[in-house]
Amino acid sequence: MARRKYPRPLAIDLFRPLDRDGAVLLNDQLAERIEILVAHGRLKAGDYLPPLRLLARKLDVSVGTVARAYEAIRRRGLAIPHSTRGMRVARPDDRVVLSEGPGWGSLVSQPVAPTSPLDADIPRVQSTAVARFDISEPGSELMPAELVRRAFSRSIGDVDQLRYAPLTGSPIALGAIERYLRERAVALDGASLLLTSGTTQSLAIITRALLPPGGVVLTEHPTWHVALSVFGSAGARVVALPVDDNGLQVGSLADAVLRHNPAFLYVQPAFQNPTGLSLCPERRAELLALARKLHLVIVEDDFASELAYETPPPPLRGPAGVDVVIHMRSFAKLIAPALRVGAIVAPPQFASALRAAKHGLDPFVSALAQRVLAHCLADSGFERHVRGLAGELRHRWQALAGALAQRMPADVRWTTPQGGFCAWMQLPRGADAGQFIRETVTAGVGLVPGNLFCVDGSAWGAVRLAFGATSVEEIERGVEIMASILGSQDHIPRIAHRVPHAVAP
Ligand SMILES: Cc1ncc(COP(=O)(O)O)c(C=O)c1O
Repeated sequence: MARRKYPRPLAIDLFRPLDRDGAVLLNDQLAERIEILVAHGRLKAGDYLPPLRLLARKLDVSVGTVARAYEAIRRRGLAIPHSTRGMRVARPDDRVVLSEGPGWGSLVSQPVAPTSPLDADIPRVQSTAVARFDISEPGSELMPAELVRRAFSRSIGDVDQLRYAPLTGSPIALGAIERYLRERAVALDGASLLLTSGTTQSLAIITRALLPPGGVVLTEHPTWHVALSVFGSAGARVVALPVDDNGLQVGSLADAVLRHNPAFLYVQPAFQNPTGLSLCPERRAELLALARKLHLVIVEDDFASELAYETPPPPLRGPAGVDVVIHMRSFAKLIAPALRVGAIVAPPQFASALRAAKHGLDPFVSALAQRVLAHCLADSGFERHVRGLAGELRHRWQALAGALAQRMPADVRWTTPQGGFCAWMQLPRGADAGQFIRETVTAGVGLVPGNLFCVDGSAWGAVRLAFGATSVEEIERGVEIMASILGSQDHIPRIAHRVPHAVAP
């Protein structure tokens, strides 16, 4: 490799000794130093960074320390790896396009313990907010209050509803859910059906049943933060595989399975929280074929497939997935989160382990709630409600997409969901979502930072836009506010503004 020359002032800053007595890790110090040199134009777009060994020698640190710093700046979109020439500073035309994946959702190749979302410091908007893009559920005005009221009054008369329900579920609810799932092409023959208190509990049960001590779970990157919590509290280590416009990048799966021998893969094939993206048909087929070949268990989280703007996608647990897919169904977004009834459909060999895990967590699902759900599903108003809800969500998405296209600066990008109520917005390169959200919240716009959904806290320049609890007027006003914060030069919260003093100008 040709020797690179760095201008003397730059070399002095780049190779200046790190602070060994402070609280900041050496790799974080180095990443921050490089960010600042880039932000000040001292390292220019297209410049190559020093080779790992050279920089390690100059700074008297390990190669691993430099590698971690380079990885951090790569994740932030500030540098791009080159297969033979090392790392170079990103150019404006190095697009961080969602469909390319690695720019924003990189393969986390070593299993890591998920950080707890409860520790995240997320600024909250007041109840009088202008727009709530932070609520990932349909607004209460979209919930089927009449349907639930009818179902409740049909259920409450029976005093038996005040007793404990059987472990696997009440017969009336099992019958209604079985019918409902069959109509939606979920493969049930020979399967075990277990009712739970919602998908959060389903996931905890499955994790407890399948995860060995110190075991690994594969997830999408980014993924639902509650799932990361469930895995973290069960002691799982997580390997996260990138998602792009066509859903999980299945190409990275075989390697991850062979290297980490995971207990299972957790995936949301339809309108994923937080990106709104879905697994395309080709990747579905590829995923199922790979799972069968590699003996990989797929845990499918179906919480929103019915909220498709056009035709709902089929479940992974169709005829081709019977032997490899454990299907979790939630009714929280279709009817109401307060109901707390969900279901697990699993290949029969998992039945007793799942029952045992449920018994150890909480053997009972409210009999009353099960009966209410059964009456809701049997009510002719249910289908009407779901179609109306999906139609309204499509209407809100169209309003959001239109407002984003009209108002956002050119370097802001977002996903295009085909259903559900989540989209993912990538801020301009170098922008800090935490700072951006602090500013939007002050102006009355609630958002959730992207790093909440990433096992390693990456995706720090992205936010989730949830639009199910926001009216069209609120959407338009909210986008206007976000765009004015991003568009105003003074307010673009670039990293260079965070620590401007650390490098001599
Ligand atoms: C990805 C995902 N799965 C499932 C659910 C529903 O979980 P539960 O049935 O426990 O309410 C949610 C709710 O936010 C979700 O985001």
